[in-house]
Amino acid sequence: MDSKRIAAEHAVTYIEDGMVVGLGTGSTAYWAIQKIGERIKGGLKVRAVATSRQSERLAVENGIPLVGFDEINGIDLTIDGADEVDQDLNLIKGGGGALLREKIVAASSRKVIIIADESKLVGQLGAFPLPVEIAVFGSPLTLQHLGRFGRPLKLRAADGQPFITDNGNYIIDCQLNAIPHPLKLHDEINAIPGVVVNGLFVQMADLVIIGRHDGTINELIR
Ligand code: A5P
Repeated sequence: MDSKRIAAEHAVTYIEDGMVVGLGTGSTAYWAIQKIGERIKGGLKVRAVATSRQSERLAVENGIPLVGFDEINGIDLTIDGADEVDQDLNLIKGGGGALLREKIVAASSRKVIIIADESKLVGQLGAFPLPVEIAVFGSPLTLQHLGRFGRPLKLRAADGQPFITDNGNYIIDCQLNAIPHPLKLHDEINAIPGVVVNGLFVQMADLVIIGRHDGTINELIR
């Protein structure tokens, strides 16, 4: 079985009746959403908050009832993917462009489970370009500020046009190569006017489930 799927299906065993569940975005979270749909058909009662329009659609297709933040008192458990995971369970996320909603949902969750295949585990964050979501207004100036932290910086594009997030913003992918102090960088980037959110998720994951090609899984706990 696909190692992303193995990790995702294991994570879904943590879901209990009555929970409000955060649904992640991406090719690993896809498998979790499918599995949650399967468990709902088997009688599981949960409600969910999605981290992107894409996951919202998948939830509807799989019969998962969605709720808004005004209807709930926080999220019990979120299951989401990541682009990189370091030894301290700090993450780079946002490869799929859903980082703002993903961070809001993770921050409102009592437990965050990250699911990934073994290729996502790294000694130090930074080989994967760090996604930074920025406001369209003033974006050339915001880019100049971001240039302090490393280059190249790339305005994310799709079909030859700037990629626009679910929240109407741009994404800049910053090739930093090495991020020795994730929290410091996180705070410095967020201090730039025009930055909406950055893809560093520092001390947000409670459990990381790694699926391996030989069919085994590892659980890394913070
Ligand atoms: C979406 O914006 C991302 O944060 C994803 O969670 C991340 O890119 C992992 O995606 P895959 O599971 O597709 O690798």
